[in-house]
Amino acid sequence: MSGSADRRSSVRQSSTNLTTICFSVCMRQARFRTAWCGALNTQRSGIPIMSKIEIDNGIAPFPKPAVLVGAIVDGKPNFMNLAWLTRISFKPHLWLFSVAKDRYTAKGIREQGKFSINIPDRDLVVELDYCGITSGAKEDKSKLFTTFYGELGDVPMIKECPVCIELTVFDVLEMVERLLIVGEVKHIYTEERFLTDGKLDQEKIGQLAYTQPPSAYWLLGERVAEAFSVGKKLCPED
Ligand SMILES: Cc1cc2nc3c(=O)[nH]c(=O)nc-3n(C[C@H](O)[C@H](O)[C@H](O)COP(=O)(O)O)c2cc1C
Repeated sequence: MSGSADRRSSVRQSSTNLTTICFSVCMRQARFRTAWCGALNTQRSGIPIMSKIEIDNGIAPFPKPAVLVGAIVDGKPNFMNLAWLTRISFKPHLWLFSVAKDRYTAKGIREQGKFSINIPDRDLVVELDYCGITSGAKEDKSKLFTTFYGELGDVPMIKECPVCIELTVFDVLEMVERLLIVGEVKHIYTEERFLTDGKLDQEKIGQLAYTQPPSAYWLLGERVAEAFSVGKKLCPED
């Protein structure tokens, strides 16, 4: 064999060795991973659980509404960004949200016993975020929007928002450093252009959702299926 053929053969030989080494390291890692995951999967009582990886338990991994809460505080309209909101009862129609006790808006809500929830669209995202990073105790937020008033009188609502809701305070619960405010929905206002067949149309509203993580605002995406309906496919037939 010539010298160059010798070199080619030894290069082939060493690359084969390298492949063998890599393969056996990978196999060993795979066996280790399988053993490790197996150990995790049969934690505690020996009941098998799915193989997931555990992540930061301080997050709230579900979409939240991105809304603006309005109230008269010290004689002026004030608005704050709010995400921690949900409905808790149909009749009476009650919504619950969590606010830190030191929020300027919370002062107005407690004093007045009424407030508004305004649903902004993507065009208001800058103002929405601004209302989440500045306090009415320091900055005057009363001129940010065109305010209007409805049936309840001095409850400031935002004309630029597609949907505005007037609520009265039903209850206030103290929870550590937070207030849980229960509001009773009294009136909901929108405009003809956000309706289809007399009902609110999400696609026309362009409502935002807030996530954390990442801490960001999103537009609702694709309509996937009809609720209380698509699941019927799996119902046993009579
Ligand atoms: C995306 C986002 C969501 C927020 N959600 C809440 C909330 O649910 N409850 C709360 O107390 N503060 C929340 N905040 C913080 C308040 O909006 C913020 O402290 C604001 O400056 C309060 O305004 P105010 O003092 O004029 O009432 C949120 C802020 C952002 C940016």
